[in-house]
Amino acid sequence: MCGIIGYVGKQNAIEVLLSGLKSLEYRGYDSAGIAYLKSNHTQIIKSVGKIKYLEEKIDKDLVSNIGIGHTRWATHGKPIEKNSHPHKVGKFTIVHNGIIENYQALKKILNNYKFKSDTDSEVIAALLDKLYNEKKDILNVIKQLENLLVGSYALGILCDDIPNTLYALRKDSPLIVGVGENENFIASDVPAILKYTNKYMLVDNNEIIEINDKITIYNSKLEKQDKEILIFEGSLEQAEKNGYEHFMLKEIHEQPSVVKETLHKFLQYDLDSLVNEMPNLEKYKQISIVGCGSAYHAGLVGKYLLEKYADIKTDVYIASEFRYQKVFIDKDSLVIFISQSGETADTLASLRKVLEEDIDTLAIVNVIGSSLAREAKETIYIKAGPEISVATTKAYIAQIAILSVMALSIGTKKQIISDKKALEIIDSFKKLPDIIENLIKKDYKSIAKTIYDKDTCFYIGRGMDYALSMEGSLKLKEISYIVSSAYPAGELKHGTISLIDEGTNVIAIATDKNISDKTFSNVKEVKSRGAFVTLITIDTIKDEFDFADNKIIIPYINDFVNPLITIIPLQLIGYETAKLRGCDIDKPKNLAKSVTVE
Ligand code: F6R
Repeated sequence: MCGIIGYVGKQNAIEVLLSGLKSLEYRGYDSAGIAYLKSNHTQIIKSVGKIKYLEEKIDKDLVSNIGIGHTRWATHGKPIEKNSHPHKVGKFTIVHNGIIENYQALKKILNNYKFKSDTDSEVIAALLDKLYNEKKDILNVIKQLENLLVGSYALGILCDDIPNTLYALRKDSPLIVGVGENENFIASDVPAILKYTNKYMLVDNNEIIEINDKITIYNSKLEKQDKEILIFEGSLEQAEKNGYEHFMLKEIHEQPSVVKETLHKFLQYDLDSLVNEMPNLEKYKQISIVGCGSAYHAGLVGKYLLEKYADIKTDVYIASEFRYQKVFIDKDSLVIFISQSGETADTLASLRKVLEEDIDTLAIVNVIGSSLAREAKETIYIKAGPEISVATTKAYIAQIAILSVMALSIGTKKQIISDKKALEIIDSFKKLPDIIENLIKKDYKSIAKTIYDKDTCFYIGRGMDYALSMEGSLKLKEISYIVSSAYPAGELKHGTISLIDEGTNVIAIATDKNISDKTFSNVKEVKSRGAFVTLITIDTIKDEFDFADNKIIIPYINDFVNPLITIIPLQLIGYETAKLRGCDIDKPKNLAKSVTVE
């Protein structure tokens, strides 16, 4: 998704902007550009593709003290140079993240302007220029702009007439202000400024930011606002690879400590923290869970646990569907929104839809201070730290860890789970980091070698294993570009089995002893039609598993802990397979880390 950086200060803005843009690469982009102000004139340099191509176009001796930069992820208009940001019209140059929904209507009132790009964003620069020509009062112009724009935006603005000041504003798209010593920044998120400062402020919707050697924040009535300066606790190193070949691998290896950190508050040495630290959720008759992609898959894991152990009917919705569908949610139910970034447009719109109905909402989010976290009635933060790889791993495991402990907490409060059993389960969670660590160390490369050269793969499982299959399948397809689908194991023979041929890859998951025999029968059905089967199962099922070509046997601990174990081989099979196929693992094509448009 688009990334924004802006700088005013004593250093060379060009270097700061390029460094900031590189830190935003993980958001996904297809072109990049910068604008800098010098002698009351703004110059723009942009390029399609990687930031290194932009860098090659920039004269090494170029110096300026103020500028804005942008990585674009195309929405309106192809990923070509004329559509890349920044856009300049008259005296105004802008970078924009978000979507202007009424840009066609706005173009009609800007009929004196000739537009150079196919974007929705260029109208913003034209609108600013028109308003400024009518009344040369920049703050009032920006305020008027806010009233005219419909949609979402984070904006960085330069005006040729105001050479030392950068303006910014946001509505429903992420934006922070970085606070330095005699230098200040704007950015889509913290990693972009971390090389220079770890102090930042969160910008609220409709606030106007004026940045020069000081920072002034106005509300939409142009009254000055006081803002708390926050300190980012992580180091820049945390946001770098730390010696691993890919961020994805580094993040997979971080999972033992992420699980520990995330659950620490809830799983102390007695039942008190389990019961008291988790919000009171046992009162709800129904829970709905909303998310996109892996967050949705995490919700499916939650459904199995909440229904089985907390005895609460739980429905899981894909946010892009939920936001437009008729939903039947009672006042005495809870809606949970799951998101790593906390900025996913569809999840955020779904939250706002529910808030209008005055129904209780809870966000499970990674990014502190993100929109979802701020707008939901309650928030539980997972403690995954910055996730750079586009394909999520550590945030997903932390999400399912929270859902698992949530089901345990509710089940214990309702006495569906006895205190004695709950204590045993708490204890098993304490062993989890070591179990994950050991499982990460296993050899997945040799399994990947047997499957990487086929272009299709099917994942099968029942119940919880089906939910995990969906995440395993997404991991494989998004980073290795193998066409992959997950099916409930019993559903295959209703059509899909016709696709099974000699050598077709099937990854079967059978970690539920109660129904594993049924899944094994389905495995045998595909095997007898020529499939190449990789089986993931548990050590408490005693079988030779001769019917499988690859076997991964994981320890069975209990239903709460096991989803967090089963996912490890699935992530690493995806990773090793993508590596053998020579894919750009951390930045798969067409994908963005933070999907802030619908
Ligand atoms: C897949 C993946 C995506 C995200 C989805 C939601 O590996 O990362 O499917 O899970 O885009 O993003 P968040 O969690 O930021 O709302």
